[in-house]
Amino acid sequence: MTELTPVLTDIWDAEQSWKLATYAARGGYSALDTAFAMSPDAVIAAVKDSGLRGRGGAGFPTGMKWSFIPQDNPKPKYLVVNADESEPGTCKDIPLMMGNPHVLVEGVILSSYAIRANKAFIYIRGEVVHVIRRVQAAVAEAYAAGHLGQDIHGSGYDLDIVVHAGAGAYICGEETALLEGLEGRRGQPRLRPPFPAVAGLYASPTVINNVESIASVPAIVKNGAAWFGSMGTEKSKGHGIFSLSGHVERPGQYEAPLGITLRELLDLAGGVRAGHQLKFWTPGGSSTPLLTAEHLDVPLDFEGVGAAGSMLGTRALQIFDETVCVVRAVLRWTEFYKHESCGKCTPCREGTWWLVQALTRLENGQGTEADLDQLLDQCDNILGRSFCALGDGATSPVSSSIQHFRDEYLAHLSHGGCPFDPAKSTAWA
Ligand code: NAI
Ligand code: SF4
Repeated sequence: MTELTPVLTDIWDAEQSWKLATYAARGGYSALDTAFAMSPDAVIAAVKDSGLRGRGGAGFPTGMKWSFIPQDNPKPKYLVVNADESEPGTCKDIPLMMGNPHVLVEGVILSSYAIRANKAFIYIRGEVVHVIRRVQAAVAEAYAAGHLGQDIHGSGYDLDIVVHAGAGAYICGEETALLEGLEGRRGQPRLRPPFPAVAGLYASPTVINNVESIASVPAIVKNGAAWFGSMGTEKSKGHGIFSLSGHVERPGQYEAPLGITLRELLDLAGGVRAGHQLKFWTPGGSSTPLLTAEHLDVPLDFEGVGAAGSMLGTRALQIFDETVCVVRAVLRWTEFYKHESCGKCTPCREGTWWLVQALTRLENGQGTEADLDQLLDQCDNILGRSFCALGDGATSPVSSSIQHFRDEYLAHLSHGGCPFDPAKSTAWA
C-alpha cells in the first residue's frame, strides 16, 4: 500500500498554518540561504536533476523550462506563477495557497533567483478573493521579515512580487492568455512559438509555472534532487496533490507519490460512498478522457494514465457512482467549455456550440443514433484544429464517454429521455 507523502500539505493542520511564524518554526525560508550559497545555474541543475515536471497539467520538465531562459538577452526576466486554477474538479492550488502561502512565496524567491528575475507575478483567479488576500498578506509578511525586497538575506539579490487578481475567465489559465490579461488586454491565447521562455511578459523572457510546481522547489533545494527523485516513478518523479471529489466518503486533497493508483487513493479516502459502485472518473479534470472501474489500478503518473488512453492533467479525480447519467455530466462540462471558449478560433467557438446542441438533444431523448457519429465527427474537427488546449480538452469527455458508454447514450433514445432519476444523484443536484 502506497503511503501518503505530506510535504506541501504537512503544515495545513497546524494552527494559523498560513502565518510566517508557523512556517518559519518548521524551517521555512531556510532554503534561501542554501540557494544563495549556490550559483543560479546550480539551482536550475538541482531542479532539473530532481525530475520535477509541471504540476499544472502538462508535465513539462520544470528545470528544462528554466534553462530555456536566454541569459544573454539584455531584457528583464520575469517569473509568473499561474494561480488561475479553474479546471473543473481541480482544487489543489487554492487550498495550498490558503494553507501554506509561504511555501509558494519561498518557491517564487528561489525560482526567480535561478532564472535571474528581479520581478515576479502571482496571477490568481479573480473569484477567490479570500485566496488573493491570504497570498497578499504572506507577501507583506515576507517583505517585513527581509525575505523580499532589496539585498535579500544580505545576498545582493533583489526581488519584488506583485500579486495580481485575474477577472474570472477560464481561458486566462492558458499561459499566453494569462500574459495578455496581465498586460491589460483581453485574455486570448497568443501563437506559440515563440514560447514565453523566449518572448513572454512584455516580450521579455518569462517562466510561467503552476503554483504547486513552484511550491515544490523549497523542499528540493533543502533536501536535494535525489530525495525528490526517490518518490514517484522513473519518469514521473516526486509527490503531488491529488484532489478527490464527488461520490467518495472522504473527499479532499491527498498528497502522495506520483504512480499511486485510484484504488489506493480510494482506500485512503474511505472508498466510494457506501452502498454504491464506481461508474466513471476523471484522472485530471474534465479536459482529460474519462476512465472507468476497469482503470482502478492504472498508475497515476504521466505515462501510466497516458497508456490507459487519458492524461494525468491536474490530478483532479472526480468520482461518479452508478446513479449519475454520463450524458448529463458530459453535457454540463460541455456547456462550461462553450461558455468559456474565448471565441478566437472557429473550431472551438462554433464546435463547442454544436456539441452542446447534439448532447442536449440526446439527453432529452430527442436525437437519433446518427447524432453519436455526428458528435464524434465534430470532436474530430475540433481536436488538433483548435488554437489552444481548451478546444482539444472540450472533446475529451464527449469522445471518451461515447467510447465507454455508447449503450447509455442509446438508452436515452429508446427511453425517450434520460433514464436516470436526478433526485437519486447528489453529484449534479
Ligand atoms: P503545453 O504542453 O503546450 O506546454 C506546457 C509548458 O511547457 C508551457 O509552459 C510551455 O510554454 C512549455 N513548453 C512546451 N514546449 C516548449 C518549447 N519547445 N520551448 C519552451 N517551452 C515549451 O501545455 P499547455 O497548453 O500550456 O497546457 C495544457 C495543460 O493545461 C493540459 O494538460 C491541462 O491538464 C492543463 N490545464 C490546467 C488547468 C488548471 O486549472 N490547472 C486548466 C486547464 C488546463
Ligand atoms: Fe479561444 Fe477556444 Fe480557440 Fe482556445 S481553442 S483560442 S479558447 S476559441
